[in-house]
Amino acid sequence: MNKNLDISHEESLKQKRIMDKLSEQIKGKGLKYFVSTFGCQMNAHDSEKLKGILEQIGYVPATEEKDADFVIYNTCCVRENAELKVYGRLGALKNSKKRNPNMLIALCGCMMQQDTVIKEIKRAYRHVDILFGTHNLYKLAELIQTRLDTGKMVIDIWENYKEIVEDLPSIRKYKFKSSVNVMFGCNNFCTYCIVPYVRGRERSRKPEDIMNEIKELVEDGVKEITLLGQNVNSYGKSLDNPITFAELIQEIEKIDGLERIRFMTSHPKDLSDELIEVIGNSKKLCNHIHLPFQSGSTKVLKKMNRRYTKEQYLELVDKIKAVRKNVALTTDIIVGFPGETEEDFMDTIDVVKKVEFDNAFTFLYSVRTGTPAATMENQVPENVAKERFNRLLEVLDEIVHKKACDKVGSTYDVLVEQVNKQNNDLVSGRLESNHLVHFKGNEDLIGKIVPVNIIESKGYYLLGELAE
Ligand code: SAH
Ligand code: SF4
Ligand code: F3S
Repeated sequence: MNKNLDISHEESLKQKRIMDKLSEQIKGKGLKYFVSTFGCQMNAHDSEKLKGILEQIGYVPATEEKDADFVIYNTCCVRENAELKVYGRLGALKNSKKRNPNMLIALCGCMMQQDTVIKEIKRAYRHVDILFGTHNLYKLAELIQTRLDTGKMVIDIWENYKEIVEDLPSIRKYKFKSSVNVMFGCNNFCTYCIVPYVRGRERSRKPEDIMNEIKELVEDGVKEITLLGQNVNSYGKSLDNPITFAELIQEIEKIDGLERIRFMTSHPKDLSDELIEVIGNSKKLCNHIHLPFQSGSTKVLKKMNRRYTKEQYLELVDKIKAVRKNVALTTDIIVGFPGETEEDFMDTIDVVKKVEFDNAFTFLYSVRTGTPAATMENQVPENVAKERFNRLLEVLDEIVHKKACDKVGSTYDVLVEQVNKQNNDLVSGRLESNHLVHFKGNEDLIGKIVPVNIIESKGYYLLGELAE
């Protein structure tokens, strides 16, 4: 047996013992927890594991943060805004803690992997009790135990991961859909991006661990899974028995009862012909690919270290469109990267127009200290970047609306997620394309995949009626 596996199994048993011990102290007291997620899907999935651990040791969910006895902020540092939000909320939490001095506050996630942040928390936010990072969230119970035993601020940040700990408890947001990590970390070092510094190097989970997790999820009612990784296309390369992402999907597809597979994120430079073939043939892969292009200018892409050109990206899109009819494409775009000229920006607009994305996440470039782009010459003035950003949104709006309108008059399978919060006669669900649709129905439909006629587009969502 692989030595790492031994350690990981041992570590997970140790944590289970600590959870049991803590639950003797905590269970039955009605102590409440509140977890806030500030980052991406990976971050949100980590939060589900944190909730799993907290419920295992006996905390129950609080409806509001101010009423909680245990508050965790799972932080993000991909852009400055994300960090500012955390500091703002943390300041306000000081008052809640004054009202409830027994409140414990923990911070974890990507922001914590930066020394400057830890120094700042230690200096100005002494009301925080526990700090940990992205590599050791499985130790939450142990850290709580240490805090309770010592009464002091507990700080446990690892620069690197040591092992992947399997079998953590988890509380899913939805009964019928779930994310599944296939890999952690990133080796790409795009020059604007902090993620490789805070999430460490790429490492893949073993296919059998992934398969077992998905089988258990399906037995528990899950119909749709999203395979998560910063760059899923390089999945499996570093395993003792290498396997490609395309092969993994084909294995997963065989699981009976699983109906929909999604994945994110794909890096264009690594999206192989093998995967395109699987995208073309798969019965379970959703008709939607998220493929960030960041910038349409080959010059900017080079400075971003993305390792593809504008033409290569467009070719890739053509290949995907050729194997999958009406595939929905979504993307991430950065505006105002250092050195971006009006001409470069027009290349970005050109890609948006040529591809006709179904949706896009657009970001103003945000300087991340420690990344190569932070010290590049010709930083774009904020007013110029904002003006371009608004122009981009105008172009995108039109295309996104047009794509949504194209759905009107056809019938699509919809996974029903919830009763509509504004109007209880409606339910809301998602097409394979990830478009949101509202239609008449009741809670019995939740978790089911049903055919829906699309009757109207409201731009960013659709209205429909149950077919049959
Ligand atoms: N691994 C994924 C993305 C992770 S971060 C990928 O490569 O596609 C999510 C998005 O945040 C990125 O796609 C990028 O568009 C954006 N982003 C990352 N760093 C940024 C920065 N410094 N400023 C603005 N946007 C950034
Ligand atoms: Fe960041 Fe690039 Fe890695 Fe994505 S691929 S996480 S953008 S470094
Ligand atoms: Fe995700 Fe933000 Fe970390 S985008 S990986 S939570 S820096």
